[in-house]
Amino acid sequence: MNNETSPYYTLITGASSGIGHELAKECAGRGHNLFLIALPGNGFVDFVKGLKQHYGVEVDYLVEDLTLSDTPVKVYNYAKNKGLKINILINNAGNGHVGKFEVMNTIKVEEMIHLNLRALTIMTLLFIKDMETYTNAHILNVGSLGAYTPVAYKTVYMATKSFVYYFTQSLRQEYRHSKIKFSVLMPGAVITNPEVELRIKKAGFLGRVSALTPQCVAKYTIHKMDKGKFAIMPGTINRLIFNVSAFLPSGILLYITRQVFRKTD
Ligand SMILES: NC(=O)c1ccc[n+]([C@@H]2O[C@H](COP(=O)([O-])OP(=O)(O)OC[C@H]3O[C@@H](n4cnc5c(N)ncnc54)[C@H](OP(=O)(O)O)[C@@H]3O)[C@@H](O)[C@H]2O)c1
Repeated sequence: MNNETSPYYTLITGASSGIGHELAKECAGRGHNLFLIALPGNGFVDFVKGLKQHYGVEVDYLVEDLTLSDTPVKVYNYAKNKGLKINILINNAGNGHVGKFEVMNTIKVEEMIHLNLRALTIMTLLFIKDMETYTNAHILNVGSLGAYTPVAYKTVYMATKSFVYYFTQSLRQEYRHSKIKFSVLMPGAVITNPEVELRIKKAGFLGRVSALTPQCVAKYTIHKMDKGKFAIMPGTINRLIFNVSAFLPSGILLYITRQVFRKTD
């Protein structure tokens, strides 16, 4: 745990809304100092002030676009210059555009690759070396429940999330003798913004009954992370879906996911 006198900070990307916003509150509630990154707008600066006042922790922030190639280095240099020791790195920012592959424009595809994959990888690369020397070091990357299987109509998004899963698992093996712990969050549907809410409705019964609030996801995630759990899957129904799907022949699984996500197109 960090506190006002601790030099340690938890860095969270995409902290102005959705899951990242709730992870920030959950960490602040546990006494972590925070270093938050988000895009401009959405009342982010007021949120930062509120966290400081309510939880009495140190909160620093940067408003930066993580799809830009020099942003991870800017973030790292800022933390170094300000003496913020990042012992917990939460790579949460991500974008999930859905739709038939051929009608997806290059801007959306590049945004997903740059944010979900490139930014997460480079942030990890930059911070990991210092983290090896810190206490309670932990890297939490945000994947997706769907990343365990190929998913039509979420082709690029799920491929980036599969990368996140295997990347984190591989690092965990490589760093098994270091002090750094690794977790990957694999959430199903989370009601974070109106676009996601509409998609959940379109996905039908399964989407509706399995959907969770970001508050519930954040609480469960930080609790499991503190316990050192690797793959964190919030929601009983999601864990049930995951366990049942492990016994399904891959052709049937691909058929079901294709039907579900075609409806959300
Ligand atoms: N919601 C779901 O159903 C679901 C399911 C599985 C996995 N996930 C994953 O969970 C993570 C969070 O998702 P969410 O639903 O909470 O998303 P969200 O509500 O859209 O929030 C995303 C956060 O990331 C920030 N962000 C977006 N683009 C950014 C950029 N280029 N640079 C810096 N920050 C950026 C956003 O800032 P602004 O608010 O300023 O745009 C926002 O704070 C993502 O990795 C997502 O793939 C979500």
